[in-house]
Amino acid sequence: MEQIFIPKTVGTVKESGTVTWQTPSNIALVKYWGKRNPQLPENTSVSFTLSNCHTKTTLSYNKKQQSNDNFDFDVVFEGKINEAFKPKIETFFKRIEAYVPFLKEYTFVIESQNSFPHSSGIASSASGMSAIAMCLMSMEKEMNPTLTEEEFYHKASFLARLGSGSACRSVKGEIVVWGAHPEINGSSDLYGVEFKDAVAPIFQNYQDTILLVDKGEKQVSSTVGHDLMHGHPFSQQRFAQAQENISKIKDIFAKGAIDDFIALVESEALTLHAMMMTSHPYFILMKPNTLEVINKVWDYRKETGSKLCFTLDAGANVHLLYPKSEKETVQLFIKQDLAVFCKNGEYIHDQVGMGANKLT
Ligand code: PMV
Repeated sequence: MEQIFIPKTVGTVKESGTVTWQTPSNIALVKYWGKRNPQLPENTSVSFTLSNCHTKTTLSYNKKQQSNDNFDFDVVFEGKINEAFKPKIETFFKRIEAYVPFLKEYTFVIESQNSFPHSSGIASSASGMSAIAMCLMSMEKEMNPTLTEEEFYHKASFLARLGSGSACRSVKGEIVVWGAHPEINGSSDLYGVEFKDAVAPIFQNYQDTILLVDKGEKQVSSTVGHDLMHGHPFSQQRFAQAQENISKIKDIFAKGAIDDFIALVESEALTLHAMMMTSHPYFILMKPNTLEVINKVWDYRKETGSKLCFTLDAGANVHLLYPKSEKETVQLFIKQDLAVFCKNGEYIHDQVGMGANKLT
């Protein structure tokens, strides 16, 4: 099936040029946790594409005068040459080489910057890898102008997935599904697709405030975490549960069933962390302040009838999700009652967005 992404015709591309894309981060509602080679999900996941948390990447390319068998590239991150990111990108290039045959014919400079503070604990791999994938697809489009928009985005997501699984959900908006599911038309393990079924107005322009509870390096990477799902005592039940939750959330979106949304999303977040706590070896990525925030959110909901809820990714930070109609009141609550649980009082207001944006 992935054969469809190997280009059949190779046209010509400019000797040199630059292309810039801005791609967002995303937050999963039904979580991807557990994979098989090559970076294929054990269950279907669905996410909101974000808007303000994004990576801007400029790819400059120069045709090599003399061909060689190396990937030749430099990485400039936030204005400085960055050696630390190179191995991850080298691995990414190796994985996608068969689908991007011109990779070794050019020398590249990859210049990136994030809109969110570096080492904020916000996963930058989703936006970072999807931005590189989009830039490479712009080069491919130039060589093969007959590529349709759908082919372009499917392949961009396919490439991004090989960089970092969840990155495949970062090229499109506003809700993206990754992983084959019988009830989602066109869904695939190979790439993310836009959720095209009915979405009630309450879920449009949904807000996400990210509380930066802990900005340090994670003790356990998501690569290790995914790996620990092999042989995990609850993995099969978990994968089956996620498939069921996709069916449920589809119905929730259509009906605008916000209370069911809250229950499903919070349960997904806690289940993700429960999987970590029941791995061998076990680990905990939440911090005391993560739990403080969760309890405050529950109290606030009880006292006010608000529809505010939380989700977590693989870290201690808390994503607070709420309808646009509650923007003012919830943001005041965050400022007054939750900022104290954040490192240096820092949080980021974001909302659901449309996906990747070409800037040149
Ligand atoms: O894309 P990865 O390999 O960093 O995995 C991310 C997994 C979670 O963020 C925890 C869940 C998800 O679906 O995004």
